[in-house]
Amino acid sequence: MANNKFMILVLLPIFFISKSVVSVSNFTLAKPNCTDHCGKIPIPYPFGLTDECSLNEYFLVTCNETSRSHRPKAYLMNLSIQISNISLDGQIRVLQYIAHDCYAPNGAFVSGNNPSISLPDHYIVNNTANKFTIVGCDTYGHVYGTRRDRNYITGCTATCDTKDDLLEGSCTGLGCCQMTIPKEISFVKVKLGSFDNYTYVNDFNNCGYGFVVEESVFSFSPENLTNLRDVKKLPMVVDWGIKNESCLEAQKNASSYACKSGNSECSDPSNGSGYRCFCKKGYEGNPYLPDGCQDIDECKNPSLNKCKGHCENKEGSYRCSCRIGYRGDGNHGCVRDILLALKLVAGFAIGIIALIFVACWTYFELRRRKLIKMKQTFFLQNGGLLLQEKLKKRDRSLLEMVKIFTSSELKKATNNFHESMIIGKGGYGTVYKGVLQDNKIVAIKKSKEIDPSQIEQFINELIILTQVRHRNIVCLLGCCLETQVPLLVYEFIGNGTLYENIHNKDKSRFLSWEKRLKIAAETAGVLSYLHSAASTPIIHRDIKSANILLDALFTAKVSDFGASRLVPMDRAQLSTMVQGTLGYLDPEYMQTSQLTEKSDVYSFGVVLLELLTGRKALSYDKPEEEINLANFFLYTLRKDRLFEILEENIVCDETREQIIEVSKLAKKCLNVRGDDRPTMKEVAMELDTLRLGGRNSWAKVEGDQEEIESLFGEGLNSISFSDDCSDGITVQDDSIRSYY
Ligand SMILES: *[C@@H]1O[C@H](CO)[C@@H](O)[C@H](O)[C@H]1NC(C)=O
Ligand SMILES: *[C@@H]1O[C@H](CO)[C@@H](O)[C@H](O)[C@H]1NC(C)=O
Ligand SMILES: *[C@@H]1O[C@H](CO)[C@@H](O)[C@H](O)[C@H]1NC(C)=O
Ligand SMILES: *[C@@H]1O[C@H](CO)[C@@H](O)[C@H](O)[C@H]1NC(C)=O
Ligand SMILES: *[C@@H]1O[C@H](CO)[C@@H](O)[C@H](O)[C@H]1NC(C)=O
Ligand SMILES: *[C@@H]1O[C@H](CO)[C@@H](O)[C@H](O)[C@H]1NC(C)=O
Ligand SMILES: *[C@@H]1O[C@H](CO)[C@@H](O)[C@H](O)[C@H]1NC(C)=O
Ligand SMILES: *[C@@H]1O[C@H](CO)[C@@H](O)[C@H](O)[C@H]1NC(C)=O
Ligand SMILES: *[C@@H]1O[C@H](CO)[C@@H](O)[C@H](O)[C@H]1NC(C)=O
Ligand SMILES: *[C@@H]1O[C@H](CO)[C@@H](O)[C@H](O)[C@H]1NC(C)=O
Ligand SMILES: *[C@@H]1O[C@H](CO)[C@@H](O)[C@H](O)[C@H]1NC(C)=O
Repeated sequence: MANNKFMILVLLPIFFISKSVVSVSNFTLAKPNCTDHCGKIPIPYPFGLTDECSLNEYFLVTCNETSRSHRPKAYLMNLSIQISNISLDGQIRVLQYIAHDCYAPNGAFVSGNNPSISLPDHYIVNNTANKFTIVGCDTYGHVYGTRRDRNYITGCTATCDTKDDLLEGSCTGLGCCQMTIPKEISFVKVKLGSFDNYTYVNDFNNCGYGFVVEESVFSFSPENLTNLRDVKKLPMVVDWGIKNESCLEAQKNASSYACKSGNSECSDPSNGSGYRCFCKKGYEGNPYLPDGCQDIDECKNPSLNKCKGHCENKEGSYRCSCRIGYRGDGNHGCVRDILLALKLVAGFAIGIIALIFVACWTYFELRRRKLIKMKQTFFLQNGGLLLQEKLKKRDRSLLEMVKIFTSSELKKATNNFHESMIIGKGGYGTVYKGVLQDNKIVAIKKSKEIDPSQIEQFINELIILTQVRHRNIVCLLGCCLETQVPLLVYEFIGNGTLYENIHNKDKSRFLSWEKRLKIAAETAGVLSYLHSAASTPIIHRDIKSANILLDALFTAKVSDFGASRLVPMDRAQLSTMVQGTLGYLDPEYMQTSQLTEKSDVYSFGVVLLELLTGRKALSYDKPEEEINLANFFLYTLRKDRLFEILEENIVCDETREQIIEVSKLAKKCLNVRGDDRPTMKEVAMELDTLRLGGRNSWAKVEGDQEEIESLFGEGLNSISFSDDCSDGITVQDDSIRSYY
């Protein structure tokens, strides 16, 4: 075994060398103790230089080493056939003389030869690897021979007129012709001839050449017309075989069977030569020697394996574990599996895409759910359920009145609560102007955050507001509970607040006494209605000129209703004081914290004073005694200097009487004790009477349809609604009618 291993170790590198040009080698492909080369020509067994070293006399090689000046030359047997190469594949190359035929310029014959080669048994001229070739411009040539013991002859012609006709690499009759020789030839003789003894072409060609040559060795060049003269011999491929026997026949006699190596196989003879031996696939070496065929380590030579991955050598073959992206080709090797690679890549990509998709989806879904949950939380926190429940119990028409807007709807309407849409700000929150989808202009009030305990009140407030639909009350259109702070949506009143109209000098000029009286009467009417008409009396609690809006026809619209109730009680006081509306606050209420309808009466009294005097409820820029309008008014009244503080442009002979009456009424309203103040009902009646009286006769209001309507509308048809928000709902109210 150890010896065997040693052999392999030594053999392997040699095999690789022998595959290429085996030139110098101390290892022998020959028999032991036999010379394995002649000069630089390797002599593998069955060839040998002696009888013992060769299989038989046919494989004897004569090596002529006598001439020291020349390289040793190898000859086949004892013949004059020079061998240039021996291959175990079953071929040798022999060097064969070139035939030439030369003439003098005058056409006289100068020199020529007709070389021949006669191969012994088991040697055949290879008919595919060799070509019979003629070179010359006035030349024809024949190749004679014996084939299966019979003669044959074939030939071709090469001519040309000028050297320019000749083409490099082309051997098709112009200066060069080539032809295939027949199969199974063992004797070859070349003969040349000339048509005109080169007399017409002797300026560039006076010789013809002919030879059977290994096709790949000779490529025609025009130079060859002259330079072939210096070449004596050219190689020719000759096939060899062991014995004219079939493999089956040969195997019968084990001692004479030439394929000695265990891993060798036999190849049947091509006619004329004999059978040959080959190493099996996966082995290399000399099949004619025992143990001559050795395993090839395919894994060590990348050109021998198509393995992409781990390679493991095996006796006669190898095993390969293919890398990712490759698959077995069914023959130990690996081929790139584009489909598998694509599948892998695609799978990977799809996986990643799917992962991203799932991640995105999860993210957005979670966000969506969070948003929905947030909206729901706000809805619940803001009493949405309570509202829905209450609304269910009530009239179905109520449901239609309290429209519950979505937050996105209102966001869109207010351009995402943009600053440019703000039309008012106060302690209660911010009022935005908004344009709904149907182009309806609305005012949207964003309340300050509310105390959760106030929710029920807020909802009740909402419901009351939807019930209290009066032509002189700002109409509540709906609300939104989805946001963190509830939003209330009102009709939009275009002409600003009463406060603006009184205290802005440009506007107050247009506020005639008649208009002032009308506003006062309307406001009083609304308050009276709230205090007595509604099922549960409603106290506005924050009556002031800033909370009375005016439309284009100077119709009073009381707003901020109940909004004060959204804010907890203690904060309401705080906020009103901060807002500077302290001037309107009922002093009794301030002391006792007992809220009654009379507080509204006091506040209304201050509004009356504003209408009369054009002064603010509290004017800090005035002398100390004039800061509080109510106190100052009562003071001037006592001093009988009323007309000194009245708004100048309202005082004239016609209005004097009414002004005095209204002043008296205001004084009553401002009584420190609430019980001493008149009720709103009485105030409203008084003001209405004054208005009617001031007009002297009905005839005067002819053509003033709106005025008449407003007078009768309120008085006779119970509550009338502004066109914008009535929606056909009427609230029957006898108490209001009763005081007309
Ligand atoms: C082959 O030649 C090398 C030196 O060229 C030598 O070291 C080695 O021993 C030789 N092997 C044999 C088997 O003769
Ligand atoms: C080879 O030659 C050596 C001596 O040169 C001899 O000892 C040996 O037996 C020979 N081997 C063979 C197989 O003839
Ligand atoms: C060897 O070659 C020389 C000259 O090249 C020749 O004279 C001689 O006869 C040859 N010997 C054999 C055995 O062929
Ligand atoms: C060559 O050898 C054969 C026998 O092997 C013999 O018959 C023949 O005469 C020899 N020819 C020459 C030229 O030596
Ligand atoms: C001799 O034969 C071997 C094996 O066939 C080959 O690799 C090599 O090229 C040949 N050498 C010449 C000079 O033809
Ligand atoms: C051509 O050469 C041949 C001999 O090869 C000769 O017999 C013949 O006369 C020559 N022809 C001419 C025209 O010279
Ligand atoms: C002739 O040579 C070619 C190339 O070397 C080879 O493939 C073919 O088998 C040979 N022909 C015969 C009959 O051996
Ligand atoms: C033919 O001519 C070319 C170019 O001079 C040369 O390389 C080649 O060896 C010639 N062929 C032979 C067989 O001499
Ligand atoms: C086998 O071959 C040997 C020598 O090659 C020969 O002596 C023997 O007679 C042959 N045996 C048969 C059965 O042909
Ligand atoms: C050998 O010759 C025979 C008879 O001529 C023919 O039938 C057979 O095909 C030939 N074999 C080869 C391999 O050329
Ligand atoms: C080879 O053997 C066959 C019959 O086995 C025979 O017909 C043929 O002539 C032989 N060829 C040679 C070159 O000996």
